[in-house]
Amino acid sequence: MNYQNALAFAKQMDAADPLKHFRKEFYFPKYRNREVIYFTGNSLGLQPKTSKKYFNAVLKDWAKHGVEGHFEGDTPWLSYHEALGKPLAKLTGSKPSEVVAMNHLTSNIHFLLVSFYKPTIKRYKILCEAKAFPSDQYLLASQAQFHGYNPDEAIIEIAPRTGEHNIRSEDILTTIEKHKHELALIFFGGINYFTGQVFDMKRIAKTAHKVGIPVGFDLAHAIGNIKLNLHEWDVDFAAWCSYKYLNSGPGNIGGIFIHEKHHRKELPRFAGWWGHDKNTRFNMGKNFSPIPSAEGWQVSTANTLGLSIHRASLDIFERAGMDALLKKSKTLTDYLAFIIECVNTEKGNPKKRLEIITPKNEKGCQLSVIAHGQGKNLFHKLMANGVIPDWREPNVIRMAPVPLYNSFEDIYRFGEILKRLL
Ligand SMILES: Cc1ncc(COP(=O)(O)O)c(C=O)c1O
Repeated sequence: MNYQNALAFAKQMDAADPLKHFRKEFYFPKYRNREVIYFTGNSLGLQPKTSKKYFNAVLKDWAKHGVEGHFEGDTPWLSYHEALGKPLAKLTGSKPSEVVAMNHLTSNIHFLLVSFYKPTIKRYKILCEAKAFPSDQYLLASQAQFHGYNPDEAIIEIAPRTGEHNIRSEDILTTIEKHKHELALIFFGGINYFTGQVFDMKRIAKTAHKVGIPVGFDLAHAIGNIKLNLHEWDVDFAAWCSYKYLNSGPGNIGGIFIHEKHHRKELPRFAGWWGHDKNTRFNMGKNFSPIPSAEGWQVSTANTLGLSIHRASLDIFERAGMDALLKKSKTLTDYLAFIIECVNTEKGNPKKRLEIITPKNEKGCQLSVIAHGQGKNLFHKLMANGVIPDWREPNVIRMAPVPLYNSFEDIYRFGEILKRLL
């Protein structure tokens, strides 16, 4: 693609974009009463305008049917979550029986580790990426402690080599090989939240399985952003949140994937009635008999109000189609990288000023940028000038042009603002 740093070019790209009409389906926030360029879908996706309709339908059924809403109405609450199975399966490359929307991300990973982190005297270590999102670091450390291990010993982190920003794929594979006799689990982000690096989930899973180690992924930054093929990649388990690229609202319901090869009743788990066999759930019997699918990991009554907004958003993904979104995402993100490089060139000292640390060929739509000599100051100036990226300590500005609602013109205009600010 021959990109141009010109408004006419950006407008032409937008005019030719088959997904352009989706932008109108979202509410764009204002910052200090002015329109913004929103680049923070990697943190909190925008609100679909249809959310209210889906949400109000549940409120209406509640008003009309009371408790009978579990069984009455257009979408009875007892099975409401089932309607999300298919779209979530499409987004994760899995079977509908392998996914379920439930709980929240960190709590779901804890639940999944009950089934998949089974340390023994010899094999008790967990391999993960260095500088994972703090919640993942805390949860892994607390799991190791819960099982009686010192996290400093039990957790092996793979870091980028000195002077590099990203973890080399070959280093992950050789570390697995090196520690294969002491590892009980490999747990990685699908995408590192800080650098935006996409990890090779397929190769990690394959290498780990050769030496008998289960593999799980935190897909917070991956779902709705990159192509996932969890079933075929033979990933054991995964979890995600719905408030980033899935645009389902702050703190809304998360989801899990469990490969169908693990859908055995005998696999240990922390149980609750919502995971119990649907045919006998209301017999109120004593013994837990899990649903033989990912649903068997559910614990509590589904949060139908949260699910309703999640559903509104997933319906948009169904209409847009992930393949079309991925195509646009690549063109849009590469355009952002091009514009940043144009600003570097115009301002001189091209290598040093704005350094994109996200690897070119291992990325979704997020670019992480170190603004040398500017730091947080530039982030504040961008905010004050109507651009909303986000800042991650100690030194990164993250920007994510989201294919559902960002445009080429957004990126062109961002470049003009950036030039003025530097
Ligand atoms: C990679 C990653 N993991 C975990 C979390 C925490 O998710 P939650 O607060 O929904 O448990 C986040 C939140 O942004 C995240 O980015």
